[in-house]
Parts: sequence; structure tokens; C-alpha cells
Amino acid sequence: MTDQPHIRIFDTTMRDGEQSPGASMTLREKLELAELLSEMKVDVIEAGFPAASGGDFDCVRQIAEQTQSETIVCGLARSTPGDIDRCGEAVRFAANPRIHTFIATSALHMEHKLKMGENAVLEAIGRSVTQARNLVPDVEWSAEDATRSDFEFLCRAVDAAIAAGATTINLPDTVGYAHPEEYGQLFKRIRETVPDADKVIWSAHCHNDLGLAVANSLAAVQNGAGQVECAVNGLGERAGNAALEEIVMALKVRNDTLQAVSGVDSTRLSRVSKMVSQITGFPVQYNKAIVGKNAFAHESGIHQDGMLKNAQTYEIMNPEDVGVSKTSLVMGKHSGRAAFRDKLATLGYSLPDDAMNDAFKRFKDLADRKKHVFDDDIMALVDEQLAAEGERIVFNRLRVVAGSEGPQTAEIDLVVDGETKWTTARGNGPVDAVFNAIREIVPHNAVLELYQVSAVTEGTDAQAEVSVRLSEDGFVSTGRSFDPDTLCASAKAYLHALNKLEIRRQKRLVA
Ligand code: KIV
Ligand code: ZN
Repeated sequence: MTDQPHIRIFDTTMRDGEQSPGASMTLREKLELAELLSEMKVDVIEAGFPAASGGDFDCVRQIAEQTQSETIVCGLARSTPGDIDRCGEAVRFAANPRIHTFIATSALHMEHKLKMGENAVLEAIGRSVTQARNLVPDVEWSAEDATRSDFEFLCRAVDAAIAAGATTINLPDTVGYAHPEEYGQLFKRIRETVPDADKVIWSAHCHNDLGLAVANSLAAVQNGAGQVECAVNGLGERAGNAALEEIVMALKVRNDTLQAVSGVDSTRLSRVSKMVSQITGFPVQYNKAIVGKNAFAHESGIHQDGMLKNAQTYEIMNPEDVGVSKTSLVMGKHSGRAAFRDKLATLGYSLPDDAMNDAFKRFKDLADRKKHVFDDDIMALVDEQLAAEGERIVFNRLRVVAGSEGPQTAEIDLVVDGETKWTTARGNGPVDAVFNAIREIVPHNAVLELYQVSAVTEGTDAQAEVSVRLSEDGFVSTGRSFDPDTLCASAKAYLHALNKLEIRRQKRLVA
């Protein structure tokens, strides 16, 4: 127990994060992610933007229904009566529902985007927050583009929101323009100026356009913010939001100076990062703070020597604190079901019996093809299985002829809506042949924008990790898959993206 301020961690991976082109998530993926976020004691989950589409509404509603813990479930709404009603309807079954409503307060946004004057904006704030408060007791109000707003007007806008019953006031750095000193001062000054400042929780929401999102959020904490809005792996519009894992670990590791705590279980950070990467198909950069593959790797002789003598010489946190276990060589083909179940539990998975049986069978197949099975292999295998459940187009079998004497050909079996289909196609290289074969079975106009291969672990028998990015009629979708065979991983990643394209089409945001 501590008497230091508790900083609420507000996760917006499923709302602002999903606004990244290509980062769409299915309902089932969102439900799983929400479950993990709630288990790891994230304080607020922003589950989506209910008025954006029927799909978004359903996601927020089902996450609300499933979340009966202390975690607050929140939906985003513009200041229109329709948006707020829809949001209230979506969140109402959560144990702790919240409506998050916003309107822009900068002259630039008011004049060019909203085409509203100051009085009209103030009137909209009072009306929207009052309406939201009549639906739920917990209402967050955000001043979009707060950091480029006129300070006097921002204070009047905040005043109006507090008077109408807002319980949290968020001051977003919507375009990632502020720097830490400036953002910290904004919180200090506004809390000194607005009369009822102590009646609300102040929130930071920072975008990373200048790479300052985490630094800005921490500056806000040092100046009285009680909530930080962030996203796993720093996902979010453009350059993203402040990374949740970095905020949580900064509060933990630098508690000596920040003097504030979060309630998040940091040992789940690695797991949630992998889950989000798998769901969105966005790989985590190797040198990403906290959750990157190299975050705890030591290559140079001097560093390795120091590490052997005392890990603190070059490590400011224990890998175990973020859920990276040191003993990652785990199992082989002789490992039994109980050991496998045990391993899954340590890695943070609890699967129903059917899924467990499937995972075990896939693990045995993998162990037959690969000498050493590492933690990362097992996580990749299970994440992929969970991501593929319920998909329309399912990979079944692939045979490829490659090599210097063409033509390269691919023979593929897919199951489409329950029906097995088979074809063979040629291509300019084996990957092209595989993708052409898929296109023959499932005709579509999607354009391949990115194809990327890396290895999950070391060794020539390592699983290949393939990311594929497709775009069709302005929609972007990213797929990711793993397999010891690079071409099978390529086919599965392509299908993952293709399956998502359809869902994404129905979910385009109206904002
Ligand atoms: O960046 C932003 O201003 C937002 C608001 C809608 C909170 O995401
Ligand atoms: Zn944002």
C-alpha cells in the first residue's frame, strides 16, 4: 500500500489504436483483448466509437457486458445527441460504464472543421455533457486539439464541462505538437485557473508525431494528471499514442522521482504486446522499449561481461517484471499435455478444452518439424490459432514448386465458407504463385502493399513470421502468420489480411 497518487491507465488500443490504417480488429479479437486488459488491471478500456458503425456498437456493447470487474468500459461519442445516446446504449451493461464525449476547442478546428463559433461550442459542451450525465454517472469530456487552443477559451470550455457534470477532463495533444515542459505547464496552469479543478480527474492523451507522447504524458502526471490515455505498442492515429507499456514501466522504474503508481500488473505487458501485434498484424520493432525483441538482449562483449557480473550494470528492470522469462527453451516432441497446459498457464493463456486440444496438436506438429520449441514459438502458435477462429477462408494445404528452373507453381487447398476448394497457379517466384492461387479461389481486387518476413527465434529451423498488408478501395488490412515453412506462413498471412478486409469494409469510421 502507498499513499502516492494512483494514476489511472486508460487503454485506447481498440479505439484510437484501431484508427491506424490496417489495424482493424474483429469482435472476437476485441473481446479477448478486453479480457486480458481487465485481468491485468487496466483502469479504463475505451472499447470503440459506437456511433461509427453497427460493428463498433456491437463490440463496445459486448465488451461492456463481459466486463463485470472494476475496470471501467468507455465508448467515444461526438457531442451530437445521436452519438451520445448510441454510446450510452452500448456501455450501459458494464459494471462501470463511461461515456467519453469530445469537441474541438482550437480556433483552427472550430473555424475549418466544425464551422462553429465559441458560443456554439460552449453550448454544445453543456448540452452533450448534461445528456451523457443523464445516462451514466461517469462522463469524460475531451477538448480536442487542447494544446493548440487559446488558453482563456480552453478554461471556459473546461468550466462548462465541469458545470454540466463531467467527472474527468482530458486535454489531448491531438496532433503531437507539444513538448514536455509546455504540456506539463498546461496542466499546472489550468488546474490553478479553473475554479472547480479539484472536483475532476485530469487526463493526458498524447500523440507521438514528434516522438514525445510518453514524455509529455509523464510531464502531465508530474503536474497533476490522474489519468493517462495510451495504447499497447503505441498504436494509434498517424505516429500513434503514448505506449501503455512504457507509461506503466516508467511509473514503476522511476517511482523515485515520479512519485505516482499505476495498478497495472506489468508481468502481462509482453503478452498483451504480442496479442495486439498478432491481432493487428503490426510487427513490434526489434528495439521497441519494454516489449521489443532486443529490449533485454546484450550483444557487445563489454555489456555481456557486465551482465554476468551484475545484471544491474546494464539492465534497469528485470525481464520478468514485464513478463519475459529468462528460460525460454521449453519443450520438445516428448513433452506431454500436462506440461503443455502448464506452460500455457505460465505464459498467461487459459484455453477452453477444445482450443487446448487444437493447440496441443499444433504444438506436436511443430515439435516434429522443429528441434527446440521456445516460449515465443508457443505464443505465436496459440495467438495464431485464436486469431484464425471463425475466419471465412481457412488454409488447408500447400505444395509449391520453386527453384532456379521455373515455372514456379503453387497448389493450394482452402476451405471457403465450409467448402473445400483447390487450385494450382503459376507466378513470378513461389510467393507470387501462392498469392495468385489464392486470388483464383477467392477473386478480389486487393493490392499487396507490403510483404515482410522475419524469424520468430534463432536457427535455420526457426518459424518464419510473415506480415502482409493489403488495400482495396481505400481499406487497408494487415495479416500476420507463423510457420516453419515460409511459404505456408505467407499464404496464411495473406488469408488473415483477406479475412479482415471484409470486416474492415463495414467498420469505416464516420468521424
Ligand atoms: O487525439 C484526440 O484528440 C482524441 C480525442 C477524440 C480524445 O483521440
Ligand atoms: Zn487521439
